[in-house]
Amino acid sequence: MYLVTMLGNLLIILAISSDTHLHTPMYFFLANLSFIDTCFTCTIVPKVLENIQTQHHTISYTGCLVQMYVFMALTLLDDFLLAVMAYDRYVAICLPLHYTMTMQPQRCLLLVATSWLCSQFLAFSLTLQMAQFSFCASHSIPHFFCDLIPLLKLACSDTHIFQATMFIEAALSGVVPLTCVLVSYAYIIHTILRVSSAGGKYKVFSTCGCHLTMVTLFYGTLFLVYFQPSSSYSADTGMLASVIYTMVTPMLNPFIYCLRNRDMKDALWKLLGWGKCSTL
Ligand SMILES: *[C@@H]1O[C@H](CO)[C@@H](O)[C@H](O)[C@H]1NC(C)=O
Repeated sequence: MYLVTMLGNLLIILAISSDTHLHTPMYFFLANLSFIDTCFTCTIVPKVLENIQTQHHTISYTGCLVQMYVFMALTLLDDFLLAVMAYDRYVAICLPLHYTMTMQPQRCLLLVATSWLCSQFLAFSLTLQMAQFSFCASHSIPHFFCDLIPLLKLACSDTHIFQATMFIEAALSGVVPLTCVLVSYAYIIHTILRVSSAGGKYKVFSTCGCHLTMVTLFYGTLFLVYFQPSSSYSADTGMLASVIYTMVTPMLNPFIYCLRNRDMKDALWKLLGWGKCSTL
């Protein structure tokens, strides 16, 4: 699965950068998303594989904090970028005449840069607080990587401020992007319903369908893990959902895009040197 994820996402980045037809904001964001997914799996899976191989289920304290930081920053970035992509689709479908003006390259770069900064800041503030806790009772994490909640349960310092920060950050980084996605799609659906031809509807839906599938997978699994009351937090459900969003979702993203999107398929064939096949 790790190899498929790496290969699939790297192929997407290569296909997008090599095909000038795909040098549009939507595909730049998709390339960013693939890049993040690649980094994301790299922070978790190699360590898991090493643990399985050596049967030493240990991680250093620094390693644990770094893993938590990178994991959080990339998850938040994924979250913000999905919202940016929804906004991009909204402008493309509902305000097509303003698209080139609204989605200028500098504007896109600004959106991506802001997402980076926000996610780094949010992840950094939580990691800094976590680094000040003492872990005195047990050092054993019932999880396959250093996730926030299992680590928090081990801390024996006062975690109230941390929990409040975590709650505010979760609310902000959950509610704001999700609202952006939902509002964008409400407008998009409204516009689709007014398109009279079935062919037009299908075309609009084929680009949004991919993005909507990714959004559903991403938020669905995140809600499963982080939005259960902490009293009923079950390590098993949490772990299963974590496997899905750390390993399965990043692996599926390339397939969601490449199997359903004609332009991506053509670019991939071209990249692999089978350009003629796409005309069959
Ligand atoms: C990410 O998006 C920006 C802005 O659209 C773009 O300039 C950059 O090339 C993208 N990065 C990757 C790795 O595709």
